[in-house]
Amino acid sequence: GRPIRVALLGCGTVGTQIVRLLTEQADELAARIGTPVELVGIAVRRADRHREVPAELLTTDAAALVARDDVDVVVEVVGGIEPTREWLLTALRAGKSVVTANKALLAEHAGDLFTAADASGADLYFEAAVAGAIPLLRPLRESLAGDRITRVMGIVNGTTNFILSAMDETGAGYAETLDEAARLGYAEADPTADVDGYDAAAKAAILASLSFHTRVTMGDVHREGISAVTPADVAAARGLGRTIKLLAICERVEAADGTASVAVRVHPAMIPRSHPLAGVGGAFNAVFVEAEAAGQLMFYGQGAGGAPTASAVLGDLVAVARNRVVGGRGPRESAYADLAVRPIAQA
Ligand code: HSE
Repeated sequence: GRPIRVALLGCGTVGTQIVRLLTEQADELAARIGTPVELVGIAVRRADRHREVPAELLTTDAAALVARDDVDVVVEVVGGIEPTREWLLTALRAGKSVVTANKALLAEHAGDLFTAADASGADLYFEAAVAGAIPLLRPLRESLAGDRITRVMGIVNGTTNFILSAMDETGAGYAETLDEAARLGYAEADPTADVDGYDAAAKAAILASLSFHTRVTMGDVHREGISAVTPADVAAARGLGRTIKLLAICERVEAADGTASVAVRVHPAMIPRSHPLAGVGGAFNAVFVEAEAAGQLMFYGQGAGGAPTASAVLGDLVAVARNRVVGGRGPRESAYADLAVRPIAQA
């Protein structure tokens, strides 16, 4: 069939790996989808900094690339809210499907994006936005759709987990470990997003929205980062048989009158070394889910880094492409329609 034409916005740690995988696996992907996937352009800030990708695909005009008539799907790994939000809304309104890894944008504007997608019939997928390579959003949205989730608790920021794990293992301070996390491609462009818990809070908002069929945004999330965690705290936790992890916790809270709400928070927590989350080291992520019928589940894997995040993006791209081939559609805004479970307001 006609190729699926893809515009890539962003070519940093993740984007470079997307280009590599799309190129190396072109034949396999075409066979798996039933039609080829063709990369038609890559929007970057500085065209002279990307020698590893085909020069003829590079452009510094993301808005023009998104507006091109021959683009079917926009893949976004730029991050940040503006101007990314405008680009993605433009794409969705024009019926172009979007695959994004942008947790900050989704945590604030998922409603607007889904409304635009619903109106035009475009797809919006974002598996890579939470916990990198770990298949997590699809299981929450689809596999567990018939159950009632009561709690989601996880390590969803690789950078801070890398830092806390190193502090625990070597007694190092967090500043020196943060440099290493940045060098390995885990940290955000502005690492305060990691260290101060904004990245984890955005992911918590997305997880709570999907798990509790509601809409939780950044303002609903209580947030505390790891910058106040000292080597002495880590040593004290160790003395108590515990370890410190930055946790994102989303909990169903039932009031006496039977109404339910969801409390969402991110903060460092001392957890017993016997707890499965205690053994999650390096930039790995893990998310515990408790559901009434399913019981306890744990999702574990690489939550940050170029190739793992690119894996999740490619999975979404295959889903969008398959939808196009068979005339199907991805998740609708109606996935959020049951707004009975309200976020608990945070101080
Ligand atoms: N900076 C993020 C992290 C990247 O460390 O987890 C993945 O979202």
